[in-house]
Amino acid sequence: MKRMRETGLIVAVALLSLVQPTAFAQPVTIPVETKHHALVLQTDANKNLGIVYMGAKLADKNEYTHVPAMYKQTAEYTGVANAAYATAGSRNLFEPAIAVTHVDGNNSLDLQYVRHDSKKLDENTSLLTVFLKDPVYNFEVTLYYKSWFNEDVTEQWSEIRHNEKGNVVLNKYASAGLYLKAGSYWLRQYHGDWAKEMQAEETRLTHGIKTLDSKLGTRANLFQPSVFMISLDKPATEDEGTVLYGALEWSGNFRVDLELDNQDNLRIMAGINNYASPYILKAGEVFTTPAFVSVLSSNGKGEASRKLHNWARNYKLLDGKGTRLTLLNNWEATYFDFNEAKLKELLKDTKKLGVDLFLLDDGWFANKYPRNDDKAGLGDWQENKKKLPNGISSLVQEAQANGVKFGIWIEPEMVNPKSELYEQHPDWVVKQPGRPEHYFRNQLVLDLSNPAVQDFVFNVVDGLFTKNPTLAYIKWDCNAVIYNAYAARLGNQSHFYIKYVQGLYAVLERIRKKYPTVPMMLCSGGGGRVDYAALQYFTEFWPSDNTDPLERIFMQWEYSYFYPAITSANHVTDWGKQPIKFRTDVAMMGKLGFDIVVSHLKEKDMTFCQEALKTYNAVKPIIWQGDQYRLQDPLTNAVAAVLYINKEKTTGVVFNYLVSNRYDAGSLLPIRFKGLDPAKKYTLKELNVYPGTTSTIDSSKVYSGEFLMKVGFNPDVKAGRNSVVLEVKAVG
Ligand code: DGJ
Repeated sequence: MKRMRETGLIVAVALLSLVQPTAFAQPVTIPVETKHHALVLQTDANKNLGIVYMGAKLADKNEYTHVPAMYKQTAEYTGVANAAYATAGSRNLFEPAIAVTHVDGNNSLDLQYVRHDSKKLDENTSLLTVFLKDPVYNFEVTLYYKSWFNEDVTEQWSEIRHNEKGNVVLNKYASAGLYLKAGSYWLRQYHGDWAKEMQAEETRLTHGIKTLDSKLGTRANLFQPSVFMISLDKPATEDEGTVLYGALEWSGNFRVDLELDNQDNLRIMAGINNYASPYILKAGEVFTTPAFVSVLSSNGKGEASRKLHNWARNYKLLDGKGTRLTLLNNWEATYFDFNEAKLKELLKDTKKLGVDLFLLDDGWFANKYPRNDDKAGLGDWQENKKKLPNGISSLVQEAQANGVKFGIWIEPEMVNPKSELYEQHPDWVVKQPGRPEHYFRNQLVLDLSNPAVQDFVFNVVDGLFTKNPTLAYIKWDCNAVIYNAYAARLGNQSHFYIKYVQGLYAVLERIRKKYPTVPMMLCSGGGGRVDYAALQYFTEFWPSDNTDPLERIFMQWEYSYFYPAITSANHVTDWGKQPIKFRTDVAMMGKLGFDIVVSHLKEKDMTFCQEALKTYNAVKPIIWQGDQYRLQDPLTNAVAAVLYINKEKTTGVVFNYLVSNRYDAGSLLPIRFKGLDPAKKYTLKELNVYPGTTSTIDSSKVYSGEFLMKVGFNPDVKAGRNSVVLEVKAVG
């Protein structure tokens, strides 16, 4: 033991000198700097590329080289513990980012720095490219760091290639590696299931590896999404603490390893899940990983979210700065039970309600095996002649005649065994040839790794638009996970999970090339799929089938850490016990829609909804494009509150909800606002006041921003007044 310790010490001293400038080789220091933060890469004398710093930016770049000497941690036995892209089979003793088997069967990899290249893509965006090479094998990795200065956001991905004489097996191929130093690390992660998406857990990371992953193939986030946050030293609050958000931009199996090592440092490896997926890489072929996006904030979770929201709207999300359509969906109003006459009535209700679009949901297709429930018809995308004798086009025309737009539901990646598609193309279906089929919601997944299936899926969408050029919206559903992963036409089965997602993206690329901005909702039986790769093709996502507004307050709160409100499709339904006002108020904190029987609304409820829609049309630019401040957490308060304010800090909307039914629960204390201009004067007016009731808020009173932020304001939330929406307006 003693001997071991001594050896460790010697190694540590030797290594410490390696990360310092030495007589042997000058280290190359590469800071990836944004407005407030820096990720600093540095080579050692052996050309290993390590991460020597991640945190608040220093004014003098030269000082980053002093960082390693400030750490007197226990022995470092490998010399590569801080590797920017850790390899397997050589000196690294920790979880690798990459593990390979070379053509000769050798499992070792060592990646040395060759050169790097930095360029500015525009005023705000920079791209760093670092070339690494194995000194023994003809094997290379290029690391990419794309950074957005103002938003403090970085995307990392890698390209892997070789020129060996044959195929190399990639056993692991992460997108990114990160390395953090702190006294303690606090992970906020999410788990869930249908109707229970985005359940948060926040815990201190203990030593060893914590893995967040999915092996579901499609609907990959059903049990766990790849989004997470790590607070350093203590759990960050909304406004305090250092916190890193991370997310993989990939709509399939993912894997995030968080390894707390013997030195108490945290290594993060994020990428496609290598589960059942060794990738056979041919000589000369390039394997490009998806991007891992991260944002760092030294001022808590709120700032991290706002930066990510800005980044998403400005650079990632399809039509992020654009507008969205309010809608009436018929799913919960009719389920599968409708016909043309019924839909025509609903189209009239759409107009009467005052939304922009009618969205026809599941059940409009299939004839041999009509889609009258979820057991048949999926895959047969011809209008059901009995329900819709005049086809979709007559409904589109009818919508137009009513002055509303028309949208439609599809689930083009899936098939019911009871369908003509399954009968005609059994080889298009993902299933093991020698094993019994196993279904998820009575359906199976189509093999999108097959180009013929890609064409089919593209044609489902293209066909709808070609026949109905004014079709204005698509709800793209995805309800099944992948069991028995096997693709009949795919040579190498271990490529299946990857090729599936690549196939999906290939189809979405084609759709977006032809239909660049038509809004599409990313639905996956709820939030089973949302991620920033998919959101390049979709304008919004469906957070959950659970639309009980009380549940939604919690769920939307958690989603809002990572995704801006404009992406969140929130529908008013009959879920939950709350009155229509409460349900509408909650749904307004995003992209508002309705899924109710409008004709069943009581007169006052109808008037309320119509007025609320007018109000929503006036304030939606603030909710969609403004800054979001989470004021009071529903998990720890009887009243939850969220504020959105425009960039000029002149107009805002504050949503307040009672989330406890305990005795006397309510806004006993004022709620402190955030994000206002302390020097400006504001008035507060209650919005969405239910017909026949009177607001208890005096809208003639004027308060300074300072007062509202230091003292706060009491929205007077209590039983019987359990949902209060306030408009904050600068005066003078
Ligand atoms: C699941 C979706 O989440 C629902 O909104 C609805 O579209 C159904 N599928 C239709 O089958």
